[in-house]
Amino acid sequence: MDRNHAREILDQWVIPTEEGSYMGGIDERPILAAANGSTVVDIEGNEYLDFQSGQMGAAIGHRHPRVMESIRKSTESFVHASNIMLNVPRLELHERLGHLFDDPLQRTLFLVTGSDTIEASVDLARKATGGLDILGMHDGLHGSTSFLSRSLSFAWKRGKHAAIAPATSAMLTPHCYRCPVGAKFPSCDYLCLKASMELADANFTSKPAAVIAEPIVSAGGVIEPPPGYFQALRRACDDRGMLIIFDEAQTGLGKTGKMFGYQHQGVVPDIMALSKHFGGGMPVSAVCTSDAVAKKAVANGFFATRSHATDPMACAAGVASLDVIVEEDLPGRAARIEERMKAAFRDMAKRYDIIGDIRGRGVLLGMELVTDHETKAPANREAAEIDRLCLKNGLIIQLRGTGPGRRNVFRFVPPMTTTDEEIDRGLNILEDAMAQVMRTRVAS
Ligand SMILES: Cc1ncc(COP(=O)(O)O)c(C=O)c1O
Repeated sequence: MDRNHAREILDQWVIPTEEGSYMGGIDERPILAAANGSTVVDIEGNEYLDFQSGQMGAAIGHRHPRVMESIRKSTESFVHASNIMLNVPRLELHERLGHLFDDPLQRTLFLVTGSDTIEASVDLARKATGGLDILGMHDGLHGSTSFLSRSLSFAWKRGKHAAIAPATSAMLTPHCYRCPVGAKFPSCDYLCLKASMELADANFTSKPAAVIAEPIVSAGGVIEPPPGYFQALRRACDDRGMLIIFDEAQTGLGKTGKMFGYQHQGVVPDIMALSKHFGGGMPVSAVCTSDAVAKKAVANGFFATRSHATDPMACAAGVASLDVIVEEDLPGRAARIEERMKAAFRDMAKRYDIIGDIRGRGVLLGMELVTDHETKAPANREAAEIDRLCLKNGLIIQLRGTGPGRRNVFRFVPPMTTTDEEIDRGLNILEDAMAQVMRTRVAS
C-alpha cells in the first residue's frame, strides 16, 4: 500500500471521526505497517520510537516473544470458546491475576475492552449497594461506549453526545498545579473534595453507588491527586455508603512502578477495572472485586460477559503478559525509567522555561508547557510544533490537555521494556525539537 492508495481509502470509506479513527491529516501522520518492542515502522520504512505504547496496549513492548509464543500455541489448539464453558487459559488467568491483588480484592471476570469494564464495574457497584448515582472526575476518561462509559468521560465533553446516562455527574479533579478552587495544598484540606461532595449530595437523584477515578488521571493530562486525597475520598464514600471504583486501564499492571496504581495511594478500591496491556496486545479486560461485593451484586442479578470475553487465545496471552510483568520485574523497570526520564525533564526545565510542570509515575509521565509560569497560560502552539517535530524525527508521544482551550501536556508512555539507549534516544529527539521551537520563538 502506498500513501495515495491510503488517501483514496480514507476519503471514500472511513467515517472521519476525530477520535479513534485517524487523528491528524494523512500527510502528517505515519501509516503503520509493523511493530517490535518499542519501535513501530511505517509503510515508507521510517522507524519511530513508540512512547505511546500503541494505544497503551503495548506497555510490555510490541509483540513480546512470550506473548507471541502463547498465541502461536493457541492457534494449534484453541482460539475461541463459548463463554458459558470453562477453558484452561481462562481459569489460569483468574488464578494468576488473583495472586497479584491485595486483600480484599480477589474475584475477577473477563471482558474485551476497557469500556466494557467500566459498564460492568458501575453495574457491579449499583447491584452491590442498591444505589444508582455515580460520580467521576471532571478530567476523567473511562471509555467510548455510546452511553454509560462515555457519560462518565467528562474529559471528552458530554455536550458532544446525543444522550447522557442518568445518575452520572462530575466531581472536581484534584489538580494541584491548576487547582479548580484556587486553593493550595496542603492548607486546602482537600477543599475540592469537600465542595464536590456537598454539591453531589444536592445533585444525587437517588441513593449514590460509587465514585469512579483513575489513580492518575491519564488522558485528562496525567494528573496525580495529592497525598491523602484518596483516603479522604474513602471517608467521604463510607459516609454515604458509596464504593470506590479505580479504573486502572492506564495505571495497572506495573506502569506506575508498582503492580497497581492504588498501591501508591494507600487505598484498596472496592472494584478495579483492568484493560490495555493486560492481554499483552490482545483484547481482554478484567473487572476485579472482593468476595463480599461480588456476592452481594450477584445476589441482585449482576452479570457481565461478551462473546469473546473468555477466548482461550486472549486469556493465554493474558497469562503470558502477567508472567512477563512479574518475572521480568516490569514495575521495577518502570520505576527506573521514571527516574531517568524525570531527571532529563528537570534538566531540560533549566534550559527551557516553557516547561511548567513535570508529573506522573513510572512510564506514565506528563510534561505541561506554559508561556508564563505565573499565569500558567497554555503553550498550545509551541506544544503542537514540538509534537510535530518529534513525530517527524521518529518519536511518537501524545498531546493532551487539562480543560477547555488547553492542549499543552505531553503524555509519555514508553513500553516498560524500553532500553536505556532507547529512552535516551527519545529524550534527545524531544530536546532537539524543544530547542528548535524555542530558538524560533526567540527569533520571532
Ligand atoms: C482510563 C481509561 N479507561 C477506559 C478506557 C477505554 O478503554 P477501551 O478503549 O479499551 O474501551 C480508556 C481508553 O483509553 C482509558 O484511558
